[in-house]
Amino acid sequence: MSSDLWSERADAYRTSAIHSSGEDLDLVIEWCEPGEGVSVLDVATGGGHVARRLREAGATVVTVDPAPGMQADTTAPAEALPFADDSFDAVACRLAAHHFADVVTAVKEMARVAKHRVVICDNTFVSESSEEADRLRDPSHVRNYSGPEWHSFFELAGLDVAAEESMERPLEIEPWLERAGTPEEDRSRVRELLGDRIAGGWMNLPTLVIKGVAK
Ligand SMILES: C[S@@+](CC[C@H](N)C(=O)[O-])C[C@H]1O[C@@H](n2cnc3c(N)ncnc32)[C@H](O)[C@@H]1O
Repeated sequence: MSSDLWSERADAYRTSAIHSSGEDLDLVIEWCEPGEGVSVLDVATGGGHVARRLREAGATVVTVDPAPGMQADTTAPAEALPFADDSFDAVACRLAAHHFADVVTAVKEMARVAKHRVVICDNTFVSESSEEADRLRDPSHVRNYSGPEWHSFFELAGLDVAAEESMERPLEIEPWLERAGTPEEDRSRVRELLGDRIAGGWMNLPTLVIKGVAK
């Protein structure tokens, strides 16, 4: 998907409840170990929630996103980060890797520019029908990966897994469809593909937060 479509969605992601707060966001911030003198790169910053929280915790933050409308400090994809090796103490990337065309290259890039730690948070794989629902809802969806797949990406990027935590995040279905601008005619098929994962207009999203350190 072109980054311009993401730019059109920028306001929706800035105000989205599931993006602006949550247990996953708290953990990403904690594991970046922010504070005075700590530099962090927020990859795929979107509405800037990770960056905002890191700055509140005293860190110096640079944001990067390929969509101009996200108004990041630098406009670039995760697969080609325009920074020198070891430029930041920590690199964070939350709820975005499932959109990356080449996730392994992106994790390698994050490991390259991080001096000490890489913290990634993303939804994890549930089933092929859920993947189909995600793609129909938002054609920019590439894939949600399993915990073992994340371990293999970290291994390929030369990172040891220092910590990981799985959790379920409650997601309200209608605002989720609205945010991606899913055409009305596709919405019932998305709900059908998700099946009994949906209850009372909500579903739980299994989510992984994983922290890597250089080997
Ligand atoms: C759901 S939003 C990110 C949410 C944000 N990190 C947060 O915590 O609220 C997904 C973002 O991924 C970005 N994106 C899509 N493809 C990308 C790529 N290849 N590299 C980096 N960012 C990408 C989009 O522009 C969008 O801003």
